[in-house]
Amino acid sequence: MERPFENRTAMVTGAGKNIGKAIALGFAAGGANVVVCDYNADAAEQTAQEIRALAAEAMVAVCDVRERDRIFAFVAKAREKFGGIDYLVNNAGGSAGLLKKLTRFVDAEPQTLDFVIDVNLKGAMHCTQAVLPGMIAQRYGKIISISSIAAVCGLDDRVDYAAAKAGLIGMTKALAIEVGEYNVCVNCISPGAISRGGKDHGHMTFLGEDGRCGKPQDIADTALFLARQDYITGENIVVDGGRSLGPGAH
Ligand SMILES: NC(=O)c1ccc[n+]([C@@H]2O[C@H](COP(=O)([O-])OP(=O)(O)OC[C@H]3O[C@@H](n4cnc5c(N)ncnc54)[C@H](O)[C@@H]3O)[C@@H](O)[C@H]2O)c1
Repeated sequence: MERPFENRTAMVTGAGKNIGKAIALGFAAGGANVVVCDYNADAAEQTAQEIRALAAEAMVAVCDVRERDRIFAFVAKAREKFGGIDYLVNNAGGSAGLLKKLTRFVDAEPQTLDFVIDVNLKGAMHCTQAVLPGMIAQRYGKIISISSIAAVCGLDDRVDYAAAKAGLIGMTKALAIEVGEYNVCVNCISPGAISRGGKDHGHMTFLGEDGRCGKPQDIADTALFLARQDYITGENIVVDGGRSLGPGAH
């Protein structure tokens, strides 16, 4: 079997479940060592076990991406263990739904705004700053952030989330300019509705008779594709079954 990521190391945040887990297992199947970052210790350990079953190495990093110091400490540990980090996937994130606080923007509480911006945007900034010096020094790296079509076409009750995810796209483009000379590629993926734990939500895509929901593997395949490209940078790839095309001809 082809192992394109042999002798490479990937760090994936939110790797305990769904999209992040599919990405982490994809890197492992390709031979990479994987740093499994998640604040859910049991979920992270489960992903790590599945990575080891694929004959790849895993390091569990139980932390919240908002905890800058812990992120930097785990990156230093990973560098000691594996020699460097080649791929970072900023996947951890979510809307105010995580706090059961989805609401119209006019009513959104400032603490909720902080939470959503911190998890989705500043968390990715902390992780990116933690791995970037190593990538620059080794003249190689791929940074992939998971945004959302909410950033591209909006989503009601999630103005903070749409803003944070749009921030990731801006970060991607600006950083791509800064680090291109070091062979570091920076890209984004914007998923549409992706099933969670087998549960579908928010259809209205143009694929399949009923407009099917995407699967975590659809996003993982795109992330692994980007990890293997050396001439794509500053890009945002929408993976949404056509949902953001609009209502179509009907
Ligand atoms: N599922 C979708 O429909 C969809 C659509 C567009 C974008 N996205 C984005 O894709 C990413 C993954 O989505 P998902 O549906 O797989 O999410 P999920 O909620 O199913 O899983 C997220 C994982 O990340 C972990 N996590 C959450 N916050 C964290 C934090 N602050 N620090 C560390 N770990 C944390 C959770 O423990 C969990 O294991 C998110 O950024 C989400 O915003 C998802």
